[in-house]
Order: sequence, then structure tokens, then C-alpha cells
Amino acid sequence: MRYPAILLIPAFVIGISIYSSTQTETPVAEPSGEALYTQWCQDCHGIEGRDFTQRSWKLGSREEDIARVIREGHELLGMPAYGETLNAVEVESLTQFVLEKASNEKRFFPAGPRFESTSDLEIRADIVVDGLETPWGMDFTDDDALLITEREGRLWHLKAGKLSAVSGLPSDIIVQGQGGLLDVAFWTDPATDSSWVYLTYSRLHPTDKNLSATGLVRGTWQETDDIVQLGTLETLFIATPYEKTHHHFGSRIAFGQDGMLYLTCGERGKRDIHPQTLSTRPGKVHRLHPDGSIPGDNPFAKQQNAEASIWTWGHRNPQGLFVHPETGDIWTHEHGPKGGDEINVLKRGSNYGWPTITYGRNYSGTIITRDTAKAGLEQPLYYWLPSIGACGLDIIHGGAWPSTWQGDLLAGSLSFEYLERLSLNAASEVVHRERLLEDIGRVRDIARNQSGDIFVAIEGAGVVYQLVPLKP
Ligand code: HEC
Repeated sequence: MRYPAILLIPAFVIGISIYSSTQTETPVAEPSGEALYTQWCQDCHGIEGRDFTQRSWKLGSREEDIARVIREGHELLGMPAYGETLNAVEVESLTQFVLEKASNEKRFFPAGPRFESTSDLEIRADIVVDGLETPWGMDFTDDDALLITEREGRLWHLKAGKLSAVSGLPSDIIVQGQGGLLDVAFWTDPATDSSWVYLTYSRLHPTDKNLSATGLVRGTWQETDDIVQLGTLETLFIATPYEKTHHHFGSRIAFGQDGMLYLTCGERGKRDIHPQTLSTRPGKVHRLHPDGSIPGDNPFAKQQNAEASIWTWGHRNPQGLFVHPETGDIWTHEHGPKGGDEINVLKRGSNYGWPTITYGRNYSGTIITRDTAKAGLEQPLYYWLPSIGACGLDIIHGGAWPSTWQGDLLAGSLSFEYLERLSLNAASEVVHRERLLEDIGRVRDIARNQSGDIFVAIEGAGVVYQLVPLKP
């Protein structure tokens, strides 16, 4: 156990309060639609029901459609069923709440720059791009040129304030549920000096359009004065088996100091199938040579019935990844269910426990397991209770950031719509947390260039900000 017991007390109290709220038999007053929404729905659908604002309904717009979706859920899309957790009156007040939010005006109009007072620093957040839909992944082609994916299937190159569409993307991207065009990474081969763009996305099965898998491709980077494009794409990896679900794709890419590519793959909503077996690819972090071949020194490379690309396993949906600039360690975070988002520092061949151990519960409030620790399964470096909907992860390193910020982590929160700063002590324990950019929108990704500049992508608002440290 790496935790001082004091850290577990809030976890215990929250655990008990979730527990008792589902056990209460004599409600004092019927909770409002808004209160129910905050308790059960906000993690996925955003603060104040923003996800429903002027929505094009997928499963029906009538009152009875919405009530049915809340009761029965939608397994393939990843919408939990609440019929066992909520009574008819509660479903009704939630339905009214959702309908009321659906009739609201869209309210994401970025006005910038924005000034931010933190505990020890003034920051300015400059808008460098707006008008996107769902910016998902970012990486730099050089210190002042940024690649940005949009989940809807577009790739942009931002250079000298000009945004150009990059052509040559895969034709089999399926934009549905949480899927679409996902992460991007830029890599220059030190041996040949040629540059490549790597993309992850939810990839349609070649013959069955009901199936998809997390896919990794790369194309050479071709940039002239007025054209940016990718050369012929090579498929490097498909996180098979293909699944019918439309969620938990992962998928972040980073290049390690060992010259290898690390790729996170979510468990596709099949928690009892993938994370705890070595014979499938979802629910794992994989390690590949940049050309997609599998390193012979991977932990399971010589094991029967194991995928040779696996580096670590027992993951749920890891959507944050960076390589520590000093130690070279691979840091990730992953979404827990209701509670239990985790930060992990990956150790070769280790099992991170999902769903055998977890600090979270099912979205409906029921127990997944009471075990939070077991021999042979890794403990997280840190876990969030409640979940913040962790997406995007990086470290402050260099640049104009003051020494008090150096080595701090930045993690995005989709659920609560802010950027979290986590300060660590020498033993890498989280000793301080702070909310930055409160109410900014769903923070999807964080990118750092060689100079230490930090960029933050906000979905919904469709904005990328650059954070500029001002005076302490
Ligand atoms: C684990 C995340 C998650 C939670 C928690 C969750 N939902 Fe959903 N919900 C989804 C997903 C995914 C969809 C599929 C539609 C989409 O892709 O956006 C969905 C769909 C819906 C739809 C249908 C939308 C449409 O376009 O037809 C409604 C209504 C809805 N949810 C209401 C709720 C309510 C009310 C709650 C709380 C009781 C809730 N959801 C909790 C993930 C979630």
C-alpha cells in the first residue's frame, strides 16, 4: 500500500454516502431533477445537462423515448440502465430536466483571453484556435506548429496563426458514440530524418459495419508552402477483436525514451472479457517499434496465448499519457466508472487490476467488487473519488513556468469542466490539488512542446488555449 490511511478516509465516507443513498427507503423529499442529474448523469453528460442542449436525438426526442433510455439504457452506445436504481417519479423528473436542457440555447462562445489567478501564479489563457467541434488529440510538428484532431474526422495543422486541413486521412473512421478520429503523434526517425504522423481512431471492420476497433496508422508528413498532407497510410496495429460497442477506445500515443511507441487501448465496454486476459488487445497498453513491429523484449513476447504487443494490462479506458522528461517513465491515467479514475506509472508486464480491484462502482451505484487491493495487482499512484472524467495528462517541464510548478501534473476533467493541477512530493505522492480554468468546458487534451509551452483542447467549445504564465 502506497497510501497514508488519511487518504482513504474521504474515499470511505464517499463510498458510504453513495451506498446509503441507494439504500434509503423513506425519502424525505423527492430530489429534484437537477439533483438527480448531478448525482447520476453529470459524469458523462456534462454540468447542467449541456450535452443535451439543442441535441439531435439518436434514440428519440419524445418524453417516452427519453424515459425509456434512462430506464433501459443502451448497451452498445454505453448508456447505463437506471431502471433498478431510480423509481418512476425520479425517472420522470430526470426526463423533464433533460427536456428542459434540450430547449436551452447553446452557450459555448469563447471570449478571450481569459485571466486566471491560481494560488501562486497569474496565468493568461489565449485562444489559439476556435470553431472546432470536438478537438481530441494534439501534438507539435515543431515548437510553434500544432497538429489537432477533431473527433468528427478532421486533422488540422496550426502554424503562424493559420489553420490548414491535412489531407490523406483514413477512409474507414467510424464517428459514433465515443469513436472517431482520436489521437495524433508526430515523430521524426533519427536514422533517416523523415517525419511521420501517427493517428489513432475507431476503425470500421472491413466487412461488417456493426463492428469497430481502436486502430493505429501512420503516413509520412508532407508539407509545402500551401499543402499539408499525409503520404500513403500504413496500418500498424488494430486492437482486435472488433466489438459492437461504441465506447472505451482509449487511445493515446506517446514515444518513449527507448524509441518505442506506447499506445493505450480501452476495454470497449467489455470489462469481464478483455482487461484480465492476455489473449486479446483491448484494455491494455501496447509497446511497438515505430514501424509497428513488435519488440522481442516485450514482457509477453514469448508467452503462449498472449498478445506479444502488451506492455501492461488490467486497464479500463486510459485517455492520458506522457513520458516523464527526466525519468523516462510512462505515466497514464484512466477513467474509472463511478469513482476511481486512476493515475498509474507503468511497470513492464504489470496488471493494473480492472475490474478485479477498483475504487469505483457501477454507474447505477451497485458494487463491482469490494476489493481495492490484491496481491499481484498494482495500486494506482493516485485515484480520484468522485471521478473527474480524466482526459489528457501532461507534466509542467521547462518553459516560463516558475519552479513551484515544475514537475506538477496537469489533468483534464471532462465531467467537471476544468483543468486540474496536481503537485507531487519527492516520493511522487499527490500533496496538493488545484482547479484551474473553472467552467472552461470539457477538457479533452493537453499538449506540451519542447519549450515547455502548454496547450489545452476543450470539446464542445471547440477551442484550443495556450496557457501563458504571468507574474507570481
Ligand atoms: C457512463 C456514461 C453515462 C452516464 C453515467 C449516463 N449516460 Fe446517458 N448516455 C450515455 C451515452 C454514451 C449515450 C449515447 C448517446 C451518445 O452517444 O451521446 C447516452 C444517451 C442518453 C440519452 C439519449 C440521447 C439521444 O441522443 O437519444 C439520454 C436521454 C440519456 N443518455 C440520459 C441520461 C441520464 C438522465 C442519465 C443519468 C440518470 C445518464 N444518461 C447517465 C452515457 C451515459
